[in-house]
Amino acid sequence: MSKLRYLTSGESHGQGLTVIVEGIPADLNISENYIEHHMARRQKGYGSGGRMKIEKDKALIKSGVRHGKTLGSPIALWIENKDFENWNEAMSIEEVPDDVDKKVFTKVVPGHADFPGALKYNQTDLRNILERASARETASRVAAGSIARKFLEFFGISIHSRVISIGSESSQKLNYENIDWEFIESSEVRANDLESEVKFKKEIDLAKSQRTTVGGIFQIITYGVPVGLGSHVHWDRKLDGQIGQSILSINAVKGVEIGNGFENTTKKGKDVHDVIIPDKNNVKNFKHISNHAGGIEGGMTNGEPIIVNVAIKPIATMTKPLPSVDINTGEIVEAAYNRSDICQVSRACPIGESMIALTLANSFLEKFGGDSMLEIQTNYTSFIKTHKNFGSK
Ligand SMILES: Cc1cc2nc3c(=O)[nH]c(=O)nc-3n(C[C@H](O)[C@H](O)[C@H](O)COP(=O)(O)O)c2cc1C
Repeated sequence: MSKLRYLTSGESHGQGLTVIVEGIPADLNISENYIEHHMARRQKGYGSGGRMKIEKDKALIKSGVRHGKTLGSPIALWIENKDFENWNEAMSIEEVPDDVDKKVFTKVVPGHADFPGALKYNQTDLRNILERASARETASRVAAGSIARKFLEFFGISIHSRVISIGSESSQKLNYENIDWEFIESSEVRANDLESEVKFKKEIDLAKSQRTTVGGIFQIITYGVPVGLGSHVHWDRKLDGQIGQSILSINAVKGVEIGNGFENTTKKGKDVHDVIIPDKNNVKNFKHISNHAGGIEGGMTNGEPIIVNVAIKPIATMTKPLPSVDINTGEIVEAAYNRSDICQVSRACPIGESMIALTLANSFLEKFGGDSMLEIQTNYTSFIKTHKNFGSK
C-alpha cells in the first residue's frame, strides 16, 4: 500500500472539488496561501480558454491541520467551482423538472473521453462523461501535490518545469546549468528564453487563426533528491515506472521520457552512460559527470536531478470541429464545441510537477517513513551519513 494516498472527487461544472490526502506526517507547516500560489500557476498561460478567467482557485483546508501544522490525520481540501452559479440546474444533485435546460450533449468529440465513456457507462448524455474527464479535476491534483511539494521542500527537494516545444517549434538553446527559472515562471508560455517564447506564441496564434489547437513537450526537473528512492527489486517499486504512471494519468499526456530516453537510442553506449567519479565535496562521496539517464538507474534515484519530458497532445475540442456522430441518433454531425483552450502545454506544467511531487513524497515516505517530521528527519539524516562508508577506505 502506498504511504501517501489521495482521492479526488468533483465534476467540472459541479459545486466543487474535494480532495483527501492521507499519509502526510505530523508537524509539517502548511497554509492555504502556499497551496493557492501553486494553484494559480496552473491557471495562467497563453492560449487558455475563458474558464480560467472565471475561476480563481483556492483550496480551503477543512481538516488535518491545526495552527498551521499537519496533525498526521487525513487532510481534506475543498475547491469551489465559481462557475457553478451558472450551472446549478444543469448540474443539480436533485432531479429537475423536464422543462429545465439540462445542457445535454450528444455530439461526440473525437479525441475526448465521451465515446468510450458513453458506451462503457451506458450514458446517452455525454455530459455525464465529460464533466469528470475534464482537466478541471487536475486542480485537485495540484492542491494535493502542493502539500507533497511542501513536504519535499523541507528536505531540500525542489521541482521546476519549462516548456521545450510547442507544435513544430522547439527551444534551440536548452541549458541544464544556470536555468533562469524566474524568467520561465514569468513567461506566459513557460519558455526557457525569449527566442523560444516568441516562437511558441506564434505557433499558438497560428493554431488559433486556423481554428484548431496545438500540443507540445514540457520538461520537469527535480533537484536535491537523495540516492535510493524507488527500488530495483520489484516491478511496481521501480520509480521510473511509478513516474510513468503518474504522468501518463494527466489529461492529454501521451508520452513520458526519463532523461534522454529517446535521443539515447540514436547513440552508442559509450556516449550515453553517465560516468561516475569520486567527489569528496558531494554528500554521496561520488558524482556522475553527465546526466543522460535523468537521475534514475535501476528504478532508483542516483542522486542526480530527475529529468522527465512529457508529450501532450493538441486539445480535442476545436472552434472548427471535426466531423463526428451523434451518440443517440447515429447521424453524422459536427463535433460539439464547448469553451476550450487552444494550447494547454504551459498549464500542464504545474500539474506534472504536482504528480512528480506526489510520487516522490510517497517514495520518500517509504524509504524514511515515520509519523512526525522529526522522526523522518532523523531517519533521513542517519541514512545520508552511511554514504561516507563508501569510497573512503
Ligand atoms: C491543463 C489542461 C487543460 C485542458 N483543457 C482542455 C479543453 O479546454 N478542452 C478539451 O477538449 N480538452 C482539454 N484538455 C484535455 C482533456 O481533458 C483530455 O484530452 C480528455 O480528457 C481525453 O483524455 P486523454 O486525452 O488523456 O485521452 C486539457 C488538458 C489539460 C492537461
